[in-house]
Amino acid sequence: MRNYKIGVIKGDGIGPEIVDEAIKVLDAVAVAEKFNISYEEFLLGGAAIDATGVPLPDETIQGVKRMDAVLFGAIGGPKWDNLERHLRPESGLLGLRKAMGTYANLRPATVYDELINASTLKPSVVKGVDIMVVRELTGGIYFGQPREYGEDKAYNTMVYTKEEVVRIAKVAFEIAMKRDKRVCSVDKANVLEVSQFWREIVEEIAKDYPEVELSHMYVDNAAMQLIRDPRQFDVILTGNIFGDILSDAASMLSGSIGLLPSASTGDGVGLYEPIHGSAPDIAGQGIANPIATIASAAMMLRYALNEDSAANRIENAIKKALADGYRTGDIGAFDAKEIVSTTEMGSIIADYASK
Ligand code: IPM
Ligand code: MG
Repeated sequence: MRNYKIGVIKGDGIGPEIVDEAIKVLDAVAVAEKFNISYEEFLLGGAAIDATGVPLPDETIQGVKRMDAVLFGAIGGPKWDNLERHLRPESGLLGLRKAMGTYANLRPATVYDELINASTLKPSVVKGVDIMVVRELTGGIYFGQPREYGEDKAYNTMVYTKEEVVRIAKVAFEIAMKRDKRVCSVDKANVLEVSQFWREIVEEIAKDYPEVELSHMYVDNAAMQLIRDPRQFDVILTGNIFGDILSDAASMLSGSIGLLPSASTGDGVGLYEPIHGSAPDIAGQGIANPIATIASAAMMLRYALNEDSAANRIENAIKKALADGYRTGDIGAFDAKEIVSTTEMGSIIADYASK
């Protein structure tokens, strides 16, 4: 029997609701594929602040290192918005990403045919979109020193070292080799030194992947092109803040940010999380869409545990649930046969995935 230890960080807002559904689906495929999963919960964000006074307790940093992978919901909420920056839930998440060394954030943006009408863009523009955003996650302006919040001025610094660009570029090219073999590196090299540096290093790495076609795009143009003609993209390689912004934009191609999963990987244990936030406005109502988290669990099975067949089960089950017309409220206006709650959606997907 294969045995896996999964760290679970439910977090705040809708986090606990959507993670519970992902666990339900994981348990279903574990039975079907004959492996064992044991779960250990860790605190992060607002939940950690309430329990321990800090957003990233030591037990969490140490604990996740013993796991095979970590499944994470979302953090943050108005209750903790007025805390100092280093005590906010978000700084817990950033600290955890850094501590785990998860420098590569993979954010697929695909359009489910079943939901083609859910996008705010025309079906003719989004049909067949299949983009992988490779976002650098532990460097750039999020972490750059110096940084300061002063009386008369405040600043952050966008820094990339050669090593950081090399390793993320390699991830993007390796992924492109398994896809359509096109990498578009997004930067702001017409203005920023750090982007000129980034571009040069990406060019260097590209030489090791002669089969992959490399292009460069400025981030403002990339935002426009994502909306104008998203099918032109295969792999988008970009830095931390540009990737944050572009992946939210890309999510709307699919119709709802509640659909998109992500994998944060590096040299050690990976973190698997939906790209959306904790949505405090709808927390506790049972209406959140659990699909992004369930799809993140599928990515975890594929990338961290090499359980491809279990991952396929989940992804096919999501498609079947959508094809059969089950919708949570966020996508309820689009070809729905039945509007279902968070837990109902989880149960339907778990059921399909187990067959
Ligand atoms: C994301 C989120 C985080 C980020 C926040 C919550 C710190 O927006 O995962 O995209 O900016 O990375
Ligand atoms: Mg974001």
